[in-house]
Amino acid sequence: MPKVTFLPDGRTVDVAPGASILDAAEQAGVDLPHNCGGVAACTTCHCWIEAGFDSLSEIEDREDDKLNEAAGLAPSSRLGCQACVSDEDVVVRIPGNRIAS
Ligand code: FES
Repeated sequence: MPKVTFLPDGRTVDVAPGASILDAAEQAGVDLPHNCGGVAACTTCHCWIEAGFDSLSEIEDREDDKLNEAAGLAPSSRLGCQACVSDEDVVVRIPGNRIAS
């Protein structure tokens, strides 16, 4: 199973292929906000992918449109609720200080 690692604290979780970054965050106890409920209608789940970007699901138009509104937009940006892992490990940096204790 692929591993998803969350920075800055390095918390790691094994997830089934097809799980979203948001699913992985919830499994790992990482506080990744998701104000719209995971339907690509906000930017609160915005995160940066530091490894494994190309292995994630394709960016759909709706996600692309919303990403353009995200603070700190970067080439590695994804919406955590829309980016799904395949069979490769992924490293995700959560903006700000949102890691749960
Ligand atoms: Fe709103 Fe991901 S939770 S876009």
